[in-house]
Amino acid sequence: METVLSGIRSTGNLHLGNYFGAVRNFVKMQHDYKCFFFVADLHSLTTYPTPEDLHGNIKQVLAEYIAAGIDPETATLYIQSDVPEVSQLYLLLNMNAYVGELERTTTFKEKVRSQPDNVNAGLLTYPVLMATDIIIHKANKVPVGKDQEQNLEMTRKFARRFNTIYKVDYFPLPEPFNFGRDLIKIPGLDGTGKMGKTEGNGIFLADSPDIITKKVMRAVTDAGPTKPKQKMSEPIRNIFTIMEVVSSQDIFNYFLEQYNTCKIRYNDLKKQLAEDIVRLTTPIRERILEISSDEEYIGRVVKMGAEKARASASQTLHDVREIIGYRPFY
Ligand code: TRP
Repeated sequence: METVLSGIRSTGNLHLGNYFGAVRNFVKMQHDYKCFFFVADLHSLTTYPTPEDLHGNIKQVLAEYIAAGIDPETATLYIQSDVPEVSQLYLLLNMNAYVGELERTTTFKEKVRSQPDNVNAGLLTYPVLMATDIIIHKANKVPVGKDQEQNLEMTRKFARRFNTIYKVDYFPLPEPFNFGRDLIKIPGLDGTGKMGKTEGNGIFLADSPDIITKKVMRAVTDAGPTKPKQKMSEPIRNIFTIMEVVSSQDIFNYFLEQYNTCKIRYNDLKKQLAEDIVRLTTPIRERILEISSDEEYIGRVVKMGAEKARASASQTLHDVREIIGYRPFY
Protein backbone atom coordinates (compact mmCIF):
# COMPACT_ATOMS: atom_id res chain seq x y z
CA MET A 1 0.00 0.00 0.00
CA GLU A 2 1.29 3.46 -0.86
CA THR A 3 2.11 5.93 1.86
CA VAL A 4 0.64 9.43 1.84
CA LEU A 5 1.87 12.19 4.12
CA SER A 6 0.87 15.75 4.81
CA GLY A 7 2.11 18.40 7.21
CA ILE A 8 -0.22 20.84 8.90
CA ARG A 9 0.98 24.26 9.99
CA SER A 10 0.39 24.73 13.72
CA THR A 11 -1.53 27.91 12.88
CA GLY A 12 -3.43 26.18 10.08
CA ASN A 13 -6.94 26.56 11.44
CA LEU A 14 -9.45 25.03 9.08
CA HIS A 15 -11.62 27.24 6.92
CA LEU A 16 -14.24 26.23 4.37
CA GLY A 17 -11.58 26.21 1.66
CA ASN A 18 -9.53 23.54 3.46
CA TYR A 19 -12.61 21.66 4.53
CA PHE A 20 -14.05 21.20 1.05
CA GLY A 21 -10.59 21.01 -0.47
CA ALA A 22 -7.79 18.88 0.89
CA VAL A 23 -9.28 17.78 4.20
CA ARG A 24 -12.30 16.05 2.70
CA ASN A 25 -9.93 14.13 0.49
CA PHE A 26 -7.73 13.24 3.48
CA VAL A 27 -10.78 11.78 5.18
CA LYS A 28 -11.50 9.56 2.17
CA MET A 29 -7.83 8.67 1.63
CA GLN A 30 -7.26 7.34 5.13
CA HIS A 31 -8.92 4.09 4.12
CA ASP A 32 -7.07 3.59 0.84
CA TYR A 33 -3.53 4.56 1.79
CA LYS A 34 -1.23 4.40 4.74
CA CYS A 35 -1.65 8.00 5.91
CA PHE A 36 0.55 10.18 8.07
CA PHE A 37 -0.73 13.61 9.13
CA PHE A 38 1.30 15.69 11.50
CA VAL A 39 1.42 19.15 13.04
CA ALA A 40 4.61 20.83 11.83
CA ASP A 41 5.42 22.45 15.14
CA LEU A 42 9.19 22.50 14.57
CA HIS A 43 8.76 24.49 11.38
CA SER A 44 6.63 26.98 13.29
CA LEU A 45 9.61 28.01 15.45
CA THR A 46 10.97 29.94 12.46
CA THR A 47 8.49 32.65 13.40
CA TYR A 48 8.90 32.56 17.24
CA PRO A 49 5.47 31.80 18.75
CA THR A 50 5.10 32.25 22.53
CA PRO A 51 5.04 28.95 24.49
CA GLU A 52 1.34 29.43 25.24
CA ASP A 53 0.46 30.14 21.61
CA LEU A 54 2.48 27.19 20.39
CA HIS A 55 0.80 24.75 22.76
CA GLY A 56 -2.68 26.16 22.20
CA ASN A 57 -2.32 26.21 18.42
CA ILE A 58 -1.19 22.59 18.26
CA LYS A 59 -4.14 21.47 20.36
CA GLN A 60 -6.57 23.51 18.30
CA VAL A 61 -5.49 22.18 14.91
CA LEU A 62 -5.49 18.61 16.22
CA ALA A 63 -9.04 19.08 17.47
CA GLU A 64 -10.10 20.63 14.16
CA TYR A 65 -8.68 17.86 12.00
CA ILE A 66 -10.24 15.18 14.18
CA ALA A 67 -13.59 16.99 14.18
CA ALA A 68 -13.37 17.28 10.38
CA GLY A 69 -13.08 13.50 10.11
CA ILE A 70 -9.46 12.42 10.44
CA ASP A 71 -9.62 9.22 12.45
CA PRO A 72 -6.53 8.92 14.66
CA GLU A 73 -7.06 5.16 14.87
CA THR A 74 -6.98 4.75 11.08
CA ALA A 75 -4.44 7.37 10.08
CA THR A 76 -1.30 8.26 12.01
CA LEU A 77 -1.92 11.72 13.44
CA TYR A 78 1.05 13.08 15.35
CA ILE A 79 3.04 16.07 16.48
CA GLN A 80 6.33 16.52 14.63
CA SER A 81 8.34 17.45 17.74
CA ASP A 82 7.22 14.23 19.46
CA VAL A 83 9.38 12.29 17.04
CA PRO A 84 13.06 12.95 17.90
CA GLU A 85 14.10 10.81 14.93
CA VAL A 86 12.95 13.70 12.71
CA SER A 87 15.53 16.04 14.24
CA GLN A 88 18.24 13.40 13.91
CA LEU A 89 17.57 12.65 10.25
CA TYR A 90 17.30 16.40 9.59
CA LEU A 91 20.84 16.87 10.90
CA LEU A 92 22.14 14.10 8.66
CA LEU A 93 20.35 15.43 5.58
CA ASN A 94 21.67 18.93 6.21
CA MET A 95 25.15 17.64 5.42
CA ASN A 96 24.08 16.98 1.85
CA ALA A 97 22.10 20.16 1.29
CA TYR A 98 23.95 23.09 -0.28
CA VAL A 99 23.57 26.63 1.00
CA GLY A 100 23.36 27.90 -2.58
CA GLU A 101 20.38 25.79 -3.54
CA LEU A 102 18.61 26.62 -0.27
CA GLU A 103 19.17 30.35 -0.80
CA ARG A 104 17.62 30.08 -4.25
CA THR A 105 14.32 28.63 -2.95
CA THR A 106 11.36 30.90 -3.71
CA THR A 107 9.87 30.57 -0.21
CA PHE A 108 13.21 31.53 1.35
CA LYS A 109 13.70 34.53 -0.92
CA GLU A 110 10.18 35.64 -0.05
CA LYS A 111 10.94 35.45 3.68
CA VAL A 112 14.14 37.43 3.19
CA ARG A 113 12.02 40.11 1.59
CA SER A 114 9.11 40.01 4.07
CA GLN A 115 11.09 39.64 7.33
CA PRO A 116 14.62 40.97 6.66
CA ASP A 117 15.44 41.27 10.36
CA ASN A 118 14.69 37.60 11.10
CA VAL A 119 16.43 35.53 8.45
CA ASN A 120 17.28 32.64 10.75
CA ALA A 121 19.08 29.44 9.70
CA GLY A 122 15.88 27.47 10.32
CA LEU A 123 14.25 29.38 7.48
CA LEU A 124 17.15 28.54 5.19
CA THR A 125 16.94 24.82 5.97
CA TYR A 126 13.14 24.70 6.04
CA PRO A 127 13.10 22.53 2.86
CA VAL A 128 15.52 20.06 4.49
CA LEU A 129 13.21 19.65 7.48
CA MET A 130 10.24 19.24 5.17
CA ALA A 131 12.13 16.64 3.15
CA THR A 132 12.92 14.84 6.40
CA ASP A 133 9.24 14.79 7.38
CA ILE A 134 8.43 13.10 4.10
CA ILE A 135 11.22 10.62 3.59
CA ILE A 136 11.41 9.51 7.21
CA HIS A 137 8.22 7.54 6.49
CA LYS A 138 9.31 6.79 2.92
CA ALA A 139 6.17 8.51 1.71
CA ASN A 140 5.24 8.07 -1.95
CA LYS A 141 2.66 10.81 -2.26
CA VAL A 142 2.32 14.25 -0.75
CA PRO A 143 -0.77 16.41 -1.29
CA VAL A 144 0.66 19.89 -1.78
CA GLY A 145 -0.65 23.21 -2.95
CA LYS A 146 1.12 25.34 -5.56
CA ASP A 147 3.15 27.15 -2.89
CA GLN A 148 4.76 23.90 -1.70
CA GLU A 149 5.63 22.36 -5.07
CA GLN A 150 9.19 23.61 -5.04
CA ASN A 151 9.72 22.21 -1.55
CA LEU A 152 8.57 18.83 -2.79
CA GLU A 153 10.96 19.09 -5.72
CA MET A 154 13.78 19.74 -3.23
CA THR A 155 12.65 16.66 -1.31
CA ARG A 156 13.05 14.53 -4.41
CA LYS A 157 16.44 16.09 -5.00
CA PHE A 158 17.63 15.31 -1.45
CA ALA A 159 16.26 11.77 -1.56
CA ARG A 160 17.86 11.11 -4.94
CA ARG A 161 21.15 12.63 -3.76
CA PHE A 162 21.23 10.38 -0.69
CA ASN A 163 20.57 7.32 -2.85
CA THR A 164 23.33 8.38 -5.27
CA ILE A 165 25.96 9.26 -2.66
CA TYR A 166 25.53 5.93 -0.88
CA LYS A 167 24.80 3.89 -4.01
CA VAL A 168 21.53 2.59 -2.60
CA ASP A 169 17.95 2.56 -3.73
CA TYR A 170 16.63 3.38 -0.31
CA PHE A 171 14.38 6.45 -0.39
CA PRO A 172 11.43 6.52 -2.78
CA LEU A 173 11.05 9.83 -4.66
CA PRO A 174 7.76 11.33 -3.44
CA GLU A 175 5.28 12.62 -6.00
CA PRO A 176 2.68 15.33 -5.53
CA PHE A 177 -0.74 13.84 -4.84
CA ASN A 178 -3.14 15.32 -7.32
CA PHE A 179 -6.79 15.27 -6.28
CA GLY A 180 -7.76 16.23 -9.81
CA ARG A 181 -11.47 16.81 -10.13
CA ASP A 182 -12.05 15.87 -6.48
CA LEU A 183 -10.54 19.14 -5.39
CA ILE A 184 -13.28 21.72 -4.98
CA LYS A 185 -11.88 25.24 -4.96
CA ILE A 186 -13.68 27.55 -2.55
CA PRO A 187 -13.40 31.25 -3.40
CA GLY A 188 -13.33 34.08 -0.87
CA LEU A 189 -16.24 36.46 -0.40
CA ASP A 190 -14.12 39.55 -0.96
CA GLY A 191 -14.64 39.72 -4.70
CA THR A 192 -11.76 37.82 -6.26
CA GLY A 193 -9.48 34.90 -5.55
CA LYS A 194 -9.57 31.85 -3.33
CA MET A 195 -10.38 31.58 0.35
CA GLY A 196 -7.31 31.46 2.53
CA LYS A 197 -5.94 32.32 5.91
CA THR A 198 -3.23 34.60 4.53
CA GLU A 199 -5.79 36.20 2.22
CA GLY A 200 -7.65 37.27 5.38
CA ASN A 201 -10.99 36.15 3.98
CA GLY A 202 -11.40 32.81 5.74
CA ILE A 203 -14.66 31.52 7.15
CA PHE A 204 -13.36 29.14 9.79
CA LEU A 205 -15.00 25.96 11.03
CA ALA A 206 -14.50 27.23 14.58
CA ASP A 207 -16.12 30.63 13.89
CA SER A 208 -19.27 31.37 15.91
CA PRO A 209 -22.59 31.76 14.03
CA ASP A 210 -22.38 35.47 14.75
CA ILE A 211 -18.99 35.86 13.16
CA ILE A 212 -19.96 33.73 10.18
CA THR A 213 -23.07 35.82 9.58
CA LYS A 214 -21.07 39.05 9.80
CA LYS A 215 -18.45 37.73 7.36
CA VAL A 216 -21.06 36.57 4.85
CA MET A 217 -23.15 39.76 5.06
CA ARG A 218 -20.00 41.73 4.22
CA ALA A 219 -19.52 39.75 0.98
CA VAL A 220 -18.76 41.89 -2.05
CA THR A 221 -21.60 42.07 -4.60
CA ASP A 222 -22.38 44.18 -7.68
CA ALA A 223 -25.19 46.48 -8.82
CA GLY A 224 -27.38 43.52 -9.79
CA PRO A 225 -28.33 41.97 -13.13
CA THR A 226 -30.11 44.23 -15.64
CA LYS A 227 -30.99 41.69 -18.29
CA PRO A 228 -32.13 38.05 -18.08
CA LYS A 229 -29.42 35.41 -17.77
CA GLN A 230 -26.74 38.05 -17.57
CA LYS A 231 -23.22 36.67 -17.16
CA MET A 232 -22.31 36.80 -13.48
CA SER A 233 -19.54 39.07 -12.22
CA GLU A 234 -16.83 37.29 -10.23
CA PRO A 235 -18.07 38.33 -6.75
CA ILE A 236 -21.56 36.99 -7.47
CA ARG A 237 -20.24 33.83 -9.08
CA ASN A 238 -18.18 33.26 -5.95
CA ILE A 239 -21.24 33.48 -3.70
CA PHE A 240 -23.05 30.97 -5.91
CA THR A 241 -20.00 28.67 -5.94
CA ILE A 242 -20.07 28.46 -2.15
CA MET A 243 -23.83 28.09 -2.11
CA GLU A 244 -23.54 25.16 -4.48
CA VAL A 245 -21.54 23.20 -1.90
CA VAL A 246 -23.24 24.26 1.34
CA SER A 247 -26.92 24.70 0.38
CA SER A 248 -29.55 22.29 -0.90
CA GLN A 249 -30.06 21.91 -4.64
CA ASP A 250 -33.52 23.53 -4.33
CA ILE A 251 -32.21 26.61 -2.62
CA PHE A 252 -29.37 26.94 -5.09
CA ASN A 253 -31.79 26.61 -8.03
CA TYR A 254 -34.19 29.10 -6.50
CA PHE A 255 -31.56 31.84 -6.19
CA LEU A 256 -30.13 31.08 -9.60
CA GLU A 257 -33.60 31.52 -11.07
CA GLN A 258 -34.02 34.78 -9.15
CA TYR A 259 -30.73 35.96 -10.62
CA ASN A 260 -31.58 34.89 -14.14
CA THR A 261 -34.90 36.74 -13.99
CA CYS A 262 -33.33 39.84 -12.41
CA LYS A 263 -35.46 39.51 -9.28
CA ILE A 264 -32.62 38.63 -6.97
CA ARG A 265 -32.05 40.51 -3.73
CA TYR A 266 -28.46 40.04 -2.70
CA ASN A 267 -29.32 40.56 0.94
CA ASP A 268 -31.63 37.52 0.89
CA LEU A 269 -28.98 35.54 -0.95
CA LYS A 270 -26.38 36.32 1.69
CA LYS A 271 -28.76 35.64 4.57
CA GLN A 272 -29.52 32.23 3.14
CA LEU A 273 -25.85 31.49 2.55
CA ALA A 274 -24.96 32.49 6.11
CA GLU A 275 -27.71 30.29 7.49
CA ASP A 276 -26.56 27.29 5.46
CA ILE A 277 -22.91 27.73 6.40
CA VAL A 278 -23.88 27.97 10.07
CA ARG A 279 -25.99 24.81 9.75
CA LEU A 280 -23.04 22.99 8.22
CA THR A 281 -20.38 24.21 10.66
CA THR A 282 -22.32 24.13 13.94
CA PRO A 283 -21.96 20.40 14.64
CA ILE A 284 -18.28 20.55 13.64
CA ARG A 285 -17.63 23.57 15.86
CA GLU A 286 -19.30 21.83 18.79
CA ARG A 287 -17.19 18.76 18.18
CA ILE A 288 -14.02 20.90 18.05
CA LEU A 289 -14.90 22.39 21.45
CA GLU A 290 -15.72 19.00 22.87
CA ILE A 291 -12.42 17.50 21.71
CA SER A 292 -10.21 20.43 22.69
CA SER A 293 -11.65 20.52 26.20
CA ASP A 294 -11.09 16.80 26.71
CA GLU A 295 -7.45 16.82 27.79
CA GLU A 296 -7.47 13.13 28.46
CA TYR A 297 -8.70 12.23 24.99
CA ILE A 298 -6.23 14.58 23.30
CA GLY A 299 -3.46 13.10 25.43
CA ARG A 300 -4.36 9.59 24.35
CA VAL A 301 -4.53 10.53 20.67
CA VAL A 302 -1.20 12.33 20.75
CA LYS A 303 0.51 9.46 22.55
CA MET A 304 -0.84 6.89 20.12
CA GLY A 305 0.22 9.08 17.16
CA ALA A 306 3.72 9.52 18.55
CA GLU A 307 4.10 5.77 19.07
CA LYS A 308 2.97 4.92 15.54
CA ALA A 309 5.10 7.66 13.96
CA ARG A 310 8.17 6.74 16.00
CA ALA A 311 7.89 3.08 15.06
CA SER A 312 8.09 4.03 11.40
CA ALA A 313 10.68 6.80 11.82
CA SER A 314 13.07 4.82 13.99
CA GLN A 315 13.20 2.01 11.43
CA THR A 316 14.26 4.52 8.76
CA LEU A 317 16.80 6.18 11.02
CA HIS A 318 18.25 2.80 11.90
CA ASP A 319 18.66 1.93 8.21
CA VAL A 320 20.10 5.35 7.37
CA ARG A 321 22.70 5.16 10.12
CA GLU A 322 23.74 1.76 8.85
CA ILE A 323 23.95 3.04 5.25
CA ILE A 324 26.01 6.07 6.27
CA GLY A 325 28.40 3.87 8.22
CA TYR A 326 27.42 4.42 11.82
CA ARG A 327 27.67 0.81 12.83
CA PRO A 328 27.31 -0.42 16.38
CA PHE A 329 30.46 -0.97 18.45
CA TYR A 330 28.54 -2.42 21.37
N1 TRP B 1 5.49 23.53 4.55
C1 TRP B 1 4.12 23.10 4.69
C2 TRP B 1 3.20 24.34 4.71
O1 TRP B 1 3.67 25.44 4.90
C3 TRP B 1 3.91 22.31 5.96
C4 TRP B 1 4.75 21.09 5.94
C5 TRP B 1 5.83 20.82 6.73
C6 TRP B 1 4.58 19.96 5.09
N2 TRP B 1 6.33 19.60 6.46
C7 TRP B 1 5.59 19.05 5.44
C8 TRP B 1 3.68 19.65 4.07
C9 TRP B 1 5.72 17.82 4.78
C10 TRP B 1 3.80 18.44 3.40
C11 TRP B 1 4.82 17.54 3.77
O2 TRP B 1 2.01 24.19 4.54
